[in-house]
Amino acid sequence: MIKNEQVEIEILLEAIYRKYGYDFRNYAKASLHRRINVLLKSHDLQHVSDLIPKIFQDDDFIHDILQAFSITVTEMFRDPEVYLSMRENVIPYLRTYPYLKVWHAGCATGEEVYSSAILLKEENLYDKSTIYATDFNLKALKSAKEGIFNVKNMKKYSENYYLAGGKKSLSEYYHSSYNAVIMDSKLKENIVFAHHNLSSDNVFSETHLIMCRNVMIYFNQELQNRVLQLFTESLKTNGFLIIGNRESIDFSSVEKDYIVVDKKNRIFQKKK
Ligand SMILES: C[S@@+](CC[C@H](N)C(=O)[O-])C[C@H]1O[C@@H](n2cnc3c(N)ncnc32)[C@H](O)[C@@H]1O
Repeated sequence: MIKNEQVEIEILLEAIYRKYGYDFRNYAKASLHRRINVLLKSHDLQHVSDLIPKIFQDDDFIHDILQAFSITVTEMFRDPEVYLSMRENVIPYLRTYPYLKVWHAGCATGEEVYSSAILLKEENLYDKSTIYATDFNLKALKSAKEGIFNVKNMKKYSENYYLAGGKKSLSEYYHSSYNAVIMDSKLKENIVFAHHNLSSDNVFSETHLIMCRNVMIYFNQELQNRVLQLFTESLKTNGFLIIGNRESIDFSSVEKDYIVVDKKNRIFQKKK
């Protein structure tokens, strides 16, 4: 027999989808359970079914749901070796194009976006690039657009930057103000921040590079496959896809469409 709680979760997710169009029905079960428990605790509620009336009675509740269901943990130059490999394996190809479109899908609060903006600057590619930074969490997107980060994270980010092959001092790309740092406005000039939902929206744009790291890990295989198909349609021939180091394309219907450029760092190139 299916446990009551599982039925309640299915009804909750269906209600969220029908009322607001946000589709969490294909998110990975274990992570959803944890996130729903966080939501229950923060509203001092006991049962999943207690959340269902709130979906219909409180229009602001969707913001709490999005905050609880979207995990925005990120850092600048996260997994520095990925950026080092990009410099070596991806940048030489990108140099051959007259213009570049880069898509960061699931950009959270933007640390990864500013990292690739810095990398493109240092490789003299920034001026011909447009970076699309998307997420479905509007609060995270707002922070990303502001580009204001906590000063206490900068030591770790600077270490990452050096390990990523950084050519200057990371502090050249931001201004300090009290407990915060503000990313240099020049880095923002070619970045477009936009709402995009990977579980329901369509192809984004004809891109040369897509980075979507640590996002699909929260999806079940069906949704991961949908998203990978979306990326494959969005990429130009010879374009690059970079996913998180706990993510894979091996199981998917698009695996055959890619050459493995760097297995460890999950960098793939779309075949002709
Ligand atoms: C852990 S963060 C990853 C941030 C960054 N890519 C990194 O690796 O550091 C995951 C992000 O995916 C976003 N996300 C989750 N589901 C999404 C969806 N269906 N559409 C768009 N973004 C989504 C979340 O809002 C969150 O900001």
